[in-house]
Formats: sequence, structure tokens, C-alpha cells
Amino acid sequence: MPVTCGRCHHGIEEQFENSIHAKRVNGSTKELPVCNDCHTAHAIRRTDEDRFRLDMDKCGRCHAEIAKTYFDTYHGKVSRLGYTKTAKCYDCHGAHDVLRVTDPRSHLSRANVAATCQKCHAGATRRFAGYLTHATHHDPRKYPFLFYTFWGMTMLLLGTFVIGGLHTLLWLPRAFQMRRELRSAEAESAATPETPASKESPDA
Ligand code: HEC
Ligand code: HEC
Ligand code: HEC
Ligand code: HEC
Ligand code: HEC
Repeated sequence: MPVTCGRCHHGIEEQFENSIHAKRVNGSTKELPVCNDCHTAHAIRRTDEDRFRLDMDKCGRCHAEIAKTYFDTYHGKVSRLGYTKTAKCYDCHGAHDVLRVTDPRSHLSRANVAATCQKCHAGATRRFAGYLTHATHHDPRKYPFLFYTFWGMTMLLLGTFVIGGLHTLLWLPRAFQMRRELRSAEAESAATPETPASKESPDA
């Protein structure tokens, strides 16, 4: 397929053959995308059209887990609402030259990431680019800090409610007993005359 399309789109074919999605580079036995997976075969559209930009299944079909974390972020949330200007997968990773993030030639390598954000965020610095696009609190291996903070805070919250609830339950019989004692104390004080001057009977 890349060769067929590459007859005319030669530069793109060349880029693609050096990307992580090329069999030659990848060596993975998993299904790799070719031109028509992302562009279709007979319904090819211009890539600056909204419909093309908003079709997240292009990448999400194969990278489902990581796409989920993208949709937790601002870029992903507003894209889902139909906003085309925030970063789509390929605005950060590239379209035909996707490489592992650890590869120094990747658009997201330490050397290149600030420039990639600067395409849309003028004045983005290395620190700004430290923002974690795929951060999730479900992965203790990649994001131990988020994972343990999430569970720490959740346990604190649950612990507070459990201890508070138990305390209330344990206190309840005691509260009823105190109420009974208060009632009988009131009844007693009503039974005794209020002032020594009163001559009336206690039952009045
Ligand atoms: C993994 C998905 C994917 C694959 C595979 C893919 N493309 Fe693309 N292609 C894109 C995306 C996304 C854009 C839009 C890039 C942009 O707007 O920055 C694009 C843009 C284009 C464009 C127009 C813009 C440009 O850069 O000139 C052409 C032409 C194109 N692709 C051809 C191809 C050919 C030929 C192949 C196979 C060798 C191919 N694509 C493989 C996702 C893909
Ligand atoms: C015979 C030559 C030829 C072949 C083969 C060919 N294309 Fe194209 N393609 C073109 C031309 C010419 C354009 C229009 C370019 C323009 O308008 O700037 C185009 C446009 C495109 C665009 C839209 C570019 C844009 O600017 O958004 C995409 C995407 C694309 N082709 C993908 C493919 C894919 C995928 C294949 C293989 C299935 C393929 N092309 C095969 C010649 C070809
Ligand atoms: C047809 C399935 C398929 C599609 C569609 C696809 N990919 Fe991939 N991608 C793969 C496979 C398979 C690998 C290799 C995974 C591996 O080696 O663990 C890969 C690898 C990657 C890597 C490197 C992963 C790493 O471990 O560092 C990135 C980044 C990536 N793809 C981004 C994208 C983006 C962005 C798009 C959309 C423009 C896309 N992919 C579309 C199948 C796909
Ligand atoms: C704002 C830029 C940005 C966008 C948008 C983005 N990514 Fe990423 N992506 C990154 C960065 C930075 C990393 C490396 C750090 C990390 O894993 O959080 C990464 C890592 C990855 C990896 C490698 C993960 C691994 O396990 O090593 C894959 C695959 C990937 N992204 C796919 C996608 C897909 C699919 C989308 C769209 C649904 C997407 N990305 C959108 C910036 C982005
Ligand atoms: C294709 C353009 C584009 C790219 C590339 C891009 N962004 Fe964005 N990003 C946007 C848009 C548009 C917004 C919406 C807010 C705005 O208008 O400033 C946004 C919003 C954000 C926000 C939320 C801002 C807020 O006010 O809460 C962060 C954080 C962010 N981007 C980080 C990044 C990082 C880090 C990178 C590089 C890895 C990056 N972006 C790359 C377009 C982009």
C-alpha cells in the first residue's frame, strides 16, 4: 500500500517507511497501520477538514488504552466536543513520522518537545512541556506519584467516613440513654415544687 500511494506521495512514503509504524522499523507482530487505515481508500478527504481532524479512531482504534487517557485531558475533552484547534494525537506525535517518544528524533523527545508545543502555545518552555498528556492514576508503574496520591487520598476519605460512621453508631445507644436520663431528670424537676413558697401538691 505505501508503495502504491507513494508513487505520487513519495516524500510521505519515505517518512512513513522510517516511522515506528513501518514493519521494517517496528518488528512487531501486531497489526500496523498503512495509508488507507487512516485515509480510507476511496473516500480520501483533505486532511485539514474538520471531519478528518476530529476522527480520533484513526489512532484510538489500535491505541485504545492510551487514547482514553488523552480524553481525560483538556485537549481530548474539547476535541470530543467538536473543537478542532486543540492538539490531536498527530499534532504531537506526527502523522507519518511517528517514533517512540524515547527516540531523539521524535517530535516529543526532550530536545524537540518544546518546539512541538510551540506550534500552538507560543512561548512554551521545556517546563510547560513537562505537562503529562497521558497521565493516569491507574498505572502505578508509569505514574507512581499519581497512583499513590489517588489511593492515599481515597483511603483517607473512606477512612474518615468509616471511623466517623462507626463512631456515630457506637455513640447512638449512649445518646438514647442520655436522652432517657434527661427526660427522667426533667420529670423529676417538674415533680418537685419550683419555689419553696409554693403550697400546691407536686402532682398539680
Ligand atoms: C497512522 C495514520 C496515518 C497513516 C498510516 C498515513 N497517514 Fe497520511 N496523514 C495522517 C494524518 C493524521 C495527516 C494530517 C497531518 C497534519 O494535518 O498535520 C495526514 C496527512 C496526509 C497527506 C496530506 C498532508 C501532507 O502531509 O502532505 C497526505 C497526502 C497523506 N497523509 C498521504 C499518506 C500516504 C501516502 C500514506 C501511506 C504511505 C499515509 N498518508 C499514511 C495520518 C496517516
Ligand atoms: C496518481 C497519483 C496519486 C496516487 C497514486 C495517490 N494520490 Fe493522493 N493525491 C494525489 C493528488 C494529485 C492529490 C491532490 C493534492 C492537492 O490537492 O494538493 C492527492 C491528495 C491526497 C490527499 C489529500 C491531501 C491534503 O492536502 O489534504 C490525501 C490524504 C491522499 N492524497 C492520500 C492518498 C492515499 C492514501 C493514496 C493511496 C491509497 C493516494 N493518495 C494515492 C495523487 C495521488
Ligand atoms: C492499525 C493499528 C495502528 C494505528 C491505526 C496506529 N498505530 Fe501506533 N502503533 C501500532 C503498533 C502495533 C505499534 C507498535 C507497538 C509496540 O511496539 O509496542 C505502534 C506504535 C506507536 C507509537 C510508539 C509507541 C511506543 O511504545 O513508544 C506511537 C507514539 C504511536 N504508535 C502513535 C500513533 C498515532 C499518533 C497514531 C494515529 C496517527 C497511530 N499510532 C495509529 C499500531 C497502530
Ligand atoms: C499534547 C501532546 C500529545 C497528544 C495530543 C497525544 N500525545 Fe501521546 N504522548 C505524548 C507524550 C509527551 C508522551 C510521552 C510521555 C507519556 O507517556 O505521557 C506520549 C506517549 C504516547 C505513547 C507511548 C506510550 C507508552 O506506553 O510508552 C503512545 C502510544 C501515544 N502517546 C499515543 C497517543 C495517541 C493515540 C493519542 C491520541 C488519542 C496521543 N498520543 C495524543 C504527547 C501527546
Ligand atoms: C495543534 C495545536 C496544539 C498543540 C500542538 C498543543 N496544544 Fe495544548 N492546547 C491547544 C489549544 C487550542 C488549547 C486550548 C486553550 C487555549 O486556547 O489556549 C490547549 C490547551 C492546553 C492546556 C490547558 C490550558 C488550560 O488553560 O488549562 C495545556 C496544559 C496544554 N494545552 C499543554 C500542551 C502541551 C504540553 C503541548 C505539547 C506537548 C501542547 N499543549 C500542544 C492546542 C495545542
